[in-house]
Amino acid sequence: MKFNTKLLHDVPSVDPLTGAASLPKYQVSTYHQEDIFNKQKYTYTRFGNPTIEALENGIATLENANFGLAFSSGMAAITAALMTLQTGDHVIAPKDIYGGAYQLIHDFLPNYGISSVFLEEMTAEEIGQNLKPNTKMIYIETPSNPLLKITDIREVVSIAKKFQLKTVIDNTFMTPIGQTPLDLGVDMVIHSATKFINGHSDVVAGLVATNDEKIFSALKKRQVTFGSILGPEDAWLVLRGLKTLGIRFERSTENAKKIAEFLATNEAVKKVYYPGLATHEKSTVHFSQAQSGGAVLSFDLGSRQAVADFFKNLTIPISAVSLGGVESILSYPATMSHACMSKQDRLAAGVTDGLVRLSVGIEDIEDLLDDLSNSLHQVEVMNIDE
Ligand SMILES: Cc1ncc(COP(=O)(O)O)c(C=O)c1O
Repeated sequence: MKFNTKLLHDVPSVDPLTGAASLPKYQVSTYHQEDIFNKQKYTYTRFGNPTIEALENGIATLENANFGLAFSSGMAAITAALMTLQTGDHVIAPKDIYGGAYQLIHDFLPNYGISSVFLEEMTAEEIGQNLKPNTKMIYIETPSNPLLKITDIREVVSIAKKFQLKTVIDNTFMTPIGQTPLDLGVDMVIHSATKFINGHSDVVAGLVATNDEKIFSALKKRQVTFGSILGPEDAWLVLRGLKTLGIRFERSTENAKKIAEFLATNEAVKKVYYPGLATHEKSTVHFSQAQSGGAVLSFDLGSRQAVADFFKNLTIPISAVSLGGVESILSYPATMSHACMSKQDRLAAGVTDGLVRLSVGIEDIEDLLDDLSNSLHQVEVMNIDE
């Protein structure tokens, strides 16, 4: 079955009890127990709920996984995955990584005796040089946020298997239609479902998929004990959003490619970061593991002032934290996704004052290109006046 058909017919969507074509929202915290001496399937929503379970089965189906779990946010999913580590363990992660994940690994895990190293490039060579006897996990994002760096998933899996390390990937940018890392041997796939999976900028949610029953049980325990399960209403909304993931992501990706090509030729743009461009240094690696360039790109306008002028003159994209909505979303990583990093760490990670990230929506491409072109023209005019 192909992806769009799977979305509509393999992700649970029909109520098994009544045949209703929209899965009911079991907006409930607790369940009447007919017989308190014998176990029943549902007892309390933090332990399990049919609407949440439908979404969990859905992400498992889409990621070709045996198990799925839904969390109250992408960060809650990341936290559960990282908290499978024990005191004394060491984790290897990339320098270019979502700011919240960086903060968790860098600022919080040391409180529990878990150490880390952040690498420029997640190559087998760099990983090999930074392996310690207590290294237990390799955490990656590909494409990464916000520099769209590409990591060779097969290479990471290969070194991880050699040293019996667990691999975790944040697959938020590609979604399961763009990349299915479990097929390449990764142990845990994480999504901020707040982004493309839900797609409508109206829910905060996280998902994890895995094939390993032991990992699933460990994550389930953390989901229940940390209390980080997604609410039924949000699970229902994500299930609803998920139905159109295929067409939304395809359209956004087509738009993103055209925008990246346009930006690459514009004088006001110093550099474009988009793995769908043949000029991206790891475009070949990316297309060996992904289906498209994705719908997020970043570009450098050279200075904070140029960024200010650009934001001021743009009319279509909303200017906001987040990505993956049906509307285009323009972000400024320095004060948004990466604000939690010190300036020194941020600059060292390549997140400059001129860097802008664009999550491309499903608007008409002509309108997006006109808007970008007008605003970039203003950036040039302002720079000449100076
Ligand atoms: C790549 C990536 N991973 C994880 C997250 C965290 O997700 P959430 O905001 O749903 O907690 C984000 C949020 O922007 C993200 O961009």
